[in-house]
This record gives sequence, structure tokens and C-alpha cells, in this order.
Amino acid sequence: MTQNTTLGTVLVTGSSGTTGRRLTELLRQGGHDVRAASRTSEHRFDWLDRSTWEPTLKGVDALYLLPYDPEPLTADFVRAAVDLGVRRIVLLSGRGVDVPGYGGEGNEAVAHHLAGEEAVRTSGAEWTILRPGWFAQNLSVGFLREDVVAGELRLADGDVPVAFVDAEDISAVAAEALTGSGHSGQVYELTGPRALTLDEVAEAISAGTGRSVRHVRLTPEEFVAEKVTQGMSEEDARGYEAVLSPIRLGLDSHVSDGVRLALGRPPRPFSAFVEDAEASGAWNR
Ligand SMILES: NC(=O)c1ccc[n+]([C@@H]2O[C@H](COP(=O)([O-])OP(=O)(O)OC[C@H]3O[C@@H](n4cnc5c(N)ncnc54)[C@H](OP(=O)(O)O)[C@@H]3O)[C@@H](O)[C@H]2O)c1
Repeated sequence: MTQNTTLGTVLVTGSSGTTGRRLTELLRQGGHDVRAASRTSEHRFDWLDRSTWEPTLKGVDALYLLPYDPEPLTADFVRAAVDLGVRRIVLLSGRGVDVPGYGGEGNEAVAHHLAGEEAVRTSGAEWTILRPGWFAQNLSVGFLREDVVAGELRLADGDVPVAFVDAEDISAVAAEALTGSGHSGQVYELTGPRALTLDEVAEAISAGTGRSVRHVRLTPEEFVAEKVTQGMSEEDARGYEAVLSPIRLGLDSHVSDGVRLALGRPPRPFSAFVEDAEASGAWNR
């Protein structure tokens, strides 16, 4: 895939986050001019403060769009971006958004992802949509980190395998789609090279780190009850279980070929994620 040599400024939204931080680094290593934006990044951008939108988008050629899950703001932002001259948009969506009921009936983040996808498809800009599965980094910086640190992955997963994807791969695909050619109009589903059960995940983390991590399989009712005991409202606990339900239902067990299609190489193995996470001290107390 050839490099776009006329590319100007690339805007990375969510640049302090899991994919945005890695993408910013990759693009800068490639010599690109990056505007790194979020509430706490070097360029201040707040989805909820529309006065920050225009200064964020002005002078930008290509945009990495990390949506704001709680509210449907993507379409307005895409319109503003194209009006201000953005020519290329790479949207982070999610695998499963096209599966009815994925993540629970009425899952707002899924609905917002779908609306965002439609907005970029009809924007008039060149677009690429990334649909990653569950990030491996959920285990190192996300909602499963505390379980790993405590040594017990306690989930209602039904022992069904999950094809975790490494955020390094998501960011590499985003960098390629923003700066290379041949990715316009593509929807890349991104996973790791194989699906792992949570038993295998616990074994891989234990083997790669010398820590003792085990998997404790809960029923959905047990999972909800545990969260309520920990202080979550019953409604929130049920919503949380619904968001995680695609794992138990096997909707994230299949391996997708997006990394290979976009980059011409296989995705990174789970063991590489474990090695990096341990080296970064992600699981230190
Ligand atoms: N985690 C998964 O397994 C998974 C799987 C598939 C799809 N996804 C999708 O991936 C996306 C990212 O999820 P993540 O959990 O990994 O998040 P993340 O990228 O690690 O963090 C969210 C980013 O958004 C920024 N942000 C938050 N509120 C903001 C605001 N009001 N204005 C501007 N920026 C704001 C944060 O920066 P500041 O705090 O500095 O503002 C941060 O950089 C979501 O759309 C999610 O649906 C996630």
C-alpha cells in the first residue's frame, strides 16, 4: 500500500485513549503532522463543548474519529469536518453493531455507532470503518484490569472463546487507512489471530507474567448479584451484564480477517499483548 505524500494535518480524537495514544505515536514516527485532541490532550477538544469543534477541525486533512458513546454526536461532527475541508475519515466503530440485539436490546453505544457509520458513509469524504472486537487492553487498562490484579477473572462468559484484538493492531490499521491508499469504502472487522476461552486468557497471563490468575465462571445472575454487592445498582448491573452478553452468546468467537486485509500481515498473538502489558507495569498495584 502506497503512502499518501500530500497528506496534511491528521486529527486524532481520543488521543489520550487506548487506540488514540498508540495511533498518535505511530503517525508521528511516520513523520506526519498530528493534532492530538481530547479534553486532556495537547489540543483541547470536548465533545460536549461545541465551541471546541471548529478550532479542532480547522486545517485538518484526515480524521481519526473516536466516537463519544453516551450521545449521538458523530453525525454533526462529521458534517462540520467535511464543511471545514476534511477529506478522509477513519471511524472507530465496533464489531457486532450490525447484529440485532448485540450488547442487549436498546444498547445506546451500538445505536450511536450505527448512526456514526451511516454519517461517514454519506459524508462525501473518503471513509474507512474499523469494527474491532473486544480489546485485549480491557484486561490491562480497561474494565477487567482489577480482576487480573486481584487474580480472578470473574465473568458470566459461559466458557465461550473470545477473539480479543490488540489495540496495537487497531492503531496500525487506523494509521494505514489514514495515510495509505486502497482503504476508501472498506469496513475492516478486527480481531486477534484466534479466539481464547477465559481459562486460556488466565493461563496466558499467568504464564507470561508469573502472576497467578484464574478464571471463575459465574452465571449471569451470580455476576449481577456480585456487582450489586459491590455497590452497583441492580439496573446498572443488569445493563453491564447485557453489554458483556455477546461473549457468553458466542457472538465474538469468530476470527475476522481485517488486520490481514489492511496490513498484509497477521494480527499479533495474545502473548505479545501480555508481554507488553507486563513490561509497562499495567498489572502492578
Ligand atoms: N473496549 C472495547 O473492547 C471496545 C470494543 C469495540 C469498540 N469499542 C469502542 O472503542 C471506543 C473507545 O473505547 P475505549 O473504552 O477504549 O476508550 P478510550 O479510547 O481508551 O478512551 C476514551 C477517549 O475519549 C476521550 N474522551 C472522553 N470523553 C471525552 C469528551 N467529552 N470530549 C473529548 N474526548 C473525550 C478520552 O480522553 P480525555 O479523557 O482526555 O478527554 C479518551 O482519549 C468506544 O467508542 C467503544 O465503543 C471498544
